[in-house]
Amino acid sequence: MALRTILIHPDPRLKKVCAPVDGVDRSVRKLADDMLETMHDAPGIGLAAPQIGILQRLIVMDCAKKDEEPQPMALINPEVTWVSEELNTYSEGCLSIPEQYEDVTRPAEVRVRWLDLDGKPQEQKFDGLWATCVQHEIDHLNGKLFIDYLSRIKRSMITKKMVKLKKERAAVL
Ligand code: NI
Repeated sequence: MALRTILIHPDPRLKKVCAPVDGVDRSVRKLADDMLETMHDAPGIGLAAPQIGILQRLIVMDCAKKDEEPQPMALINPEVTWVSEELNTYSEGCLSIPEQYEDVTRPAEVRVRWLDLDGKPQEQKFDGLWATCVQHEIDHLNGKLFIDYLSRIKRSMITKKMVKLKKERAAVL
């Protein structure tokens, strides 16, 4: 396994619609392993392939609470097949937008279909934090960030902070 570098917003690669994964092979399993390691190291509860510059439809998540067993998941070509009418608001963050948290309202429950790392189709209902996380990560595959749900003013304030952060990081290197 290897840690990958997480792209920081703004980056054109975070705004692209990603291509479906074409066949689940060893390289896809290796990529999923690297993404899980990178996500846990960050630490975070979800990561999408475009966040490490890979423009393919693959996400990883682990929303297990601190006192629970880890529940790492890798979802290939995930698709939302149903959303609840009930909504839920969470204070969301993103590894590509460090230390910025804002309330985002989304469906409280979703059903998602995907391919697992054996290439087998899976479908499952998600609720709670898992539902928010899976929707946030699937958004990444469509070039959408959680700040796209905020007002233009809030979004541009956060983007300015990130531009500054990237300049500071570049100066340290
Ligand atoms: Ni994110």
